[in-house]
Amino acid sequence: MSESVAYDLPHRPRRNRKSAAIRSMVRETELSPAHFIYPLFIQEGTQDDDIASMPGCKRWSLDGLLGEVASAQTLGVNAVVLFPAIAESLKTPLAEECANDDGLVPRAIRALKAKFPELVVITDVALDPYNSNGHDGIVQDGRILNDETIEVLCAQALCHARAGADIVSPSDMMDGRVGAIREALDLHEFPDVLILSYTAKYASAFYGPFRGALDSAPKSGDKKSYQMDPANAREALREADLDAMEGADMLMVKPAGPYLDIIHRLREHSDLPIAAYQVSGEYLMIKSASAAGWLDEKKIVLETLTGIRRAGADIILTYYAKQAAEWLRSAE
Ligand code: PBG
Repeated sequence: MSESVAYDLPHRPRRNRKSAAIRSMVRETELSPAHFIYPLFIQEGTQDDDIASMPGCKRWSLDGLLGEVASAQTLGVNAVVLFPAIAESLKTPLAEECANDDGLVPRAIRALKAKFPELVVITDVALDPYNSNGHDGIVQDGRILNDETIEVLCAQALCHARAGADIVSPSDMMDGRVGAIREALDLHEFPDVLILSYTAKYASAFYGPFRGALDSAPKSGDKKSYQMDPANAREALREADLDAMEGADMLMVKPAGPYLDIIHRLREHSDLPIAAYQVSGEYLMIKSASAAGWLDEKKIVLETLTGIRRAGADIILTYYAKQAAEWLRSAE
């Protein structure tokens, strides 16, 4: 190498990466537990069970749930979304159990709000855990009925609101459900309950492990007549406009990692807060590759979550919420 290899470069972007202190001064995206929502599976009984399709996650008993939330909260995670595993014997074609005030979800909400008044309790509004055919809506002759489903979703949302939910989150993708749920909530004097709408929920194979966790896979057919085609982006903007018009408080994109462009487009398109769901398949890919020793779990998780935030998500739903909060606390 010759002695004088200093080029006359006025622009050396590396100067801004010179030390950890300078790097953190110019860092554009912050990752903090305040932005996380922790999805939790719940079940009847006193046992906490491992979930075969999602190693590291559990189906919690109500006691187990309270313990898990307490430890998440001490790490700064202050929002949870609940997913119930419902006994096969309670599943029906009209999913009546979803609006039972003594059902698993309302009991869990009441227990959480009694113990953690500041916790943000979010519920999933959709019929699949309660529906004997595993679909998010009511099925007749192989078709998913839109308007009939909405009536049941409104009853379900009201049941969650009565129990004390802060946010209801319709994940069913029926047309017009946000407006109908808003109207039902207002009519029954729950104007303060928020709606976090699954705005752009794609018909994704990344939900497989979740359906294993709840035993909620559709018994026949698929969800393509209501969840979005992974090939479409403009359609997400149309859904966003409708949700905003119907009174959604927050919009969600799901899955997150393979749909960063959609997060970005919604961020540019709408002034509403944007949430993104790092779903079960995304979780499992990282989990299994790390378990095999092929990836550095902590680094990969923090990088994926940072990427989701950088794309434009204000809020991230992730099964890694608690662990990521722990890692952030001990970050270099
Ligand atoms: C059901 C629902 C699903 C998920 C959240 N709510 C599954 C589905 O639509 O089939 C998936 C979450 C995940 O995969 O982590 N309405």
